[in-house]
Amino acid sequence: MKSVDYLNLNKDRFLSELFEFLRIPSVSSEPNHDADTKKCSEWLADNMKNSGLSSVKIYPTDGHSIVYGENLSAGADKPTILIYGHYDVQPVDPIELWESMPFEPVIRNGKIYGRGSADDKGQVFMHIKSVESIVKSGENLPCNIKFLIEGEEEAGSNHLDDFIINNTELLKCDSILISDTEWFADGVPSLCYSLRGISFIELTLTGPNRDLHSGTFGGAVDNPIIVLSKMIASLRDDYGRITIPGFYDDVLELEQDERDNFKKLPFEYKDWCLDLDIKEGYGEIGYTTLERTWARPTLDINGIYGGYTGEGAKTVLPSKASAKLSMRLVPNQDPDDITEKITKHLLRIAPPTVKIQIKKLHGGNPVMIQRDGKAVKSAMNALKRAYNKEAVFMREGGSIPIVNTFSQALQSPVVLMGFGLPGDNIHSPNESYSVDNFFGGIKTSIFFIDEFSK
Ligand code: BES
Ligand code: MN
Ligand code: MN
Repeated sequence: MKSVDYLNLNKDRFLSELFEFLRIPSVSSEPNHDADTKKCSEWLADNMKNSGLSSVKIYPTDGHSIVYGENLSAGADKPTILIYGHYDVQPVDPIELWESMPFEPVIRNGKIYGRGSADDKGQVFMHIKSVESIVKSGENLPCNIKFLIEGEEEAGSNHLDDFIINNTELLKCDSILISDTEWFADGVPSLCYSLRGISFIELTLTGPNRDLHSGTFGGAVDNPIIVLSKMIASLRDDYGRITIPGFYDDVLELEQDERDNFKKLPFEYKDWCLDLDIKEGYGEIGYTTLERTWARPTLDINGIYGGYTGEGAKTVLPSKASAKLSMRLVPNQDPDDITEKITKHLLRIAPPTVKIQIKKLHGGNPVMIQRDGKAVKSAMNALKRAYNKEAVFMREGGSIPIVNTFSQALQSPVVLMGFGLPGDNIHSPNESYSVDNFFGGIKTSIFFIDEFSK
């Protein structure tokens, strides 16, 4: 039997196995789900063993475990593909906005609804089922395959760097395949060649040593919430540029051919605004929406808190105010350098009426992949074989912090061949994954393994 026939005969079972995977609430950032996350790693390891992989092993870390498995039957003279993905998922809040329960997957209108369906369980599972289809159909695997599936990507991949650096022999490969990104649009097969990086901090200002009566003290003691608001508002100017000194020093400018390619993509600014229910977009003058999200750095406040936020009024002059602040970075910005620059800047602009404390939460490097390597070409060919049309190149605004460690520690080219869609609501209520893309992804994965062996 051919591997693609095996896939077609086993579609129902592949889906029901994916549903089992999705039913385990592996929310890595919430300690009350630690047991579930562990259970999920065990379920995954079992499934991998039954899917034609050997040496399946759960590697514990100080955080959540890493699941490894391989099939090296192709032999030492054949290339090796390392497939990376994550089995952990984002929290579900606000749960009341879900139309069906996040951990009770269902199919509606051709989409699998459930937390983690697109990010990233559904996507990483495609590759396990593609290897199963090749091996169990009786075909020979033309490449060696290794899987590395982690359980804390959504929490910052805190223990994966060390694992990779300490296990370069185990992970040695000729290409690293990752499906954790999106297509440009439904029906537009895409290959991503660049991701943004991230620098994330938490900023706390303290005024007086306790909350004060705003009548007795107001007007004579500064208000940390107002100071914080002014400080963060000053971080962007009227041209949408970030005001931190040296922030743009290492920014890689867009190439003209990239700008031309972006313009050819089917993007409708009006529809985009309509979907978000906004009158106008925002951003750096001189750049289009796609350029702003894919190739320009940002500064955002993710949350701000302090003072009284309960019902009704309370006349308080708060002691503290805090903000979570993240910056998306582009090649060749360095997260540590940027974190240092913003820290220095904030310390300089804080007035003497407050004490300032800055906590580094996490960082991740941006990614830029050459578009003419063998791995990328194999992916383009595989997509063409699966969809009978040429795939488009795109960049993404999101981050996968570990990619940079992979390419540096293993010295192998990375391929970002994701199958999510823009309407998948990853990280939001009602996350979904297209059934067609799930099966199309398995087929493309089979073709990629074949193309890369040539
Ligand atoms: N799969 C996403 C990254 C992504 C999202 C790539 C959309 C392309 C398009 C990944 O799981 C993720 O959410 N990454 C985080 C990283 C953070 C926790 C350091 C992100 O981008 O916020
Ligand atoms: Mn992901
Ligand atoms: Mn994610």
